[in-house]
Amino acid sequence: MTRFAPLQNDLLLRALLRQPVEATPVWLMRQAGRYLPEYRALRQRAGSFLALAKNPALATEVALQPLERYPLDAAILFSDILTIPDAMGLGLFFTEGEGPKFRHPLNDEKAVLALTPPDLAQLQYVFDAVTQTRAALGGRVPLIGFAGSPWTLACYMVEGGSSSDFNRVKMMLYQRPDLMHHLLATNASAVAAYLNAQIKAGAQAVMLFDTWGGILADGAYQRFSLGYMRQVIDQLQREQDGARIPIVIFTRGGGQWLEDIAASGADAIGLDWTVSLAQARRRVGQQVALQGNLDPAVLFTPAEVIRAEARKVLASFGQPESGFGHVFNLGHGIPPNVPPEAVSVLIEAVRENNSQTFV
Ligand code: CP3
Repeated sequence: MTRFAPLQNDLLLRALLRQPVEATPVWLMRQAGRYLPEYRALRQRAGSFLALAKNPALATEVALQPLERYPLDAAILFSDILTIPDAMGLGLFFTEGEGPKFRHPLNDEKAVLALTPPDLAQLQYVFDAVTQTRAALGGRVPLIGFAGSPWTLACYMVEGGSSSDFNRVKMMLYQRPDLMHHLLATNASAVAAYLNAQIKAGAQAVMLFDTWGGILADGAYQRFSLGYMRQVIDQLQREQDGARIPIVIFTRGGGQWLEDIAASGADAIGLDWTVSLAQARRRVGQQVALQGNLDPAVLFTPAEVIRAEARKVLASFGQPESGFGHVFNLGHGIPPNVPPEAVSVLIEAVRENNSQTFV
């Protein structure tokens, strides 16, 4: 027996598994965040983004905020990909306007070799947020759990934060591939255990954010990013309470490797806006579902442009009768200064299309 209310809207899960749907499900990466005034208010009350993310009750409230405004077909856990390195002892903090930073980045060989997967008890606040969010949803829509890819985590862990060129992590990859493989194997075990704990806590689908896979050379991508995502997938629990748990891989800038990603064991590929859904479908066939891929910049344009561009994305995937498996999304996260009304226009445009093409 499951501990949670029955799911009333399972469009997302069916689309990710390429099962027939009566409408295209829609959710948006970073749907809970700074573009919402109610998010900014709650963050101010909590004191910081990390204070929000580390408090399961507040994280639950934030995850539900976009669902109060828009008829979305999924909720996503409110957390961050850098919780894992934080729990490994790197000391995550955020500085205003500069993004994430680590107090103890991996500066030398000794630091890399000393690294071990975190004690999952350190991440209990994340699993509690999953369970509380799932319960608060009351079966309205499924809850997506997530983690960073082993490679994307390594980028932040070695650089100590964001970077414009990722030179340090690339130097390590080229000069000390043995060390890099050690780091990635450690991250892969950590990510697999972390996602399995999210699934046990109530996540109904999981997504791997490979934000920096696209900076790698062809060949290096397969060895240093995709290979370790595959290791994660191989270790994941694929079913919980009798339901299959779909897995989505999102490699930003991964358009040239779609065939490889489709063969990884993932159920769906998240696409940025640089590849058309039509082309992606021709290349991967019925192997995987596709999630995406409107350019987030469209959200800064007038309503009629947003509607037209949303329709283009839907038309690019094609008509439902020619095969299912599309989840409408952006090609990357919602930028922090998007007007909330633009998101309403977008979601309505996707719904409108549903009433016209699904009969
Ligand atoms: O999509 C959602 O609504 C779920 C929440 C979510 C957050 N981070 C919350 C967050 C998710 C899925 C993430 C993933 C994440 N975090 C990624 C991968 C996704 C991607 O964008 O490609 C990455 C690279 C990170 C690391 C990270 N966390 C960065 C680079 C930043 C700074 C961003 C910025 O604009 O300053 C964060 C902070 C962060 N994570 C915020 C949110 C809502 C903003 C914090 C704030 O200022 O309130």
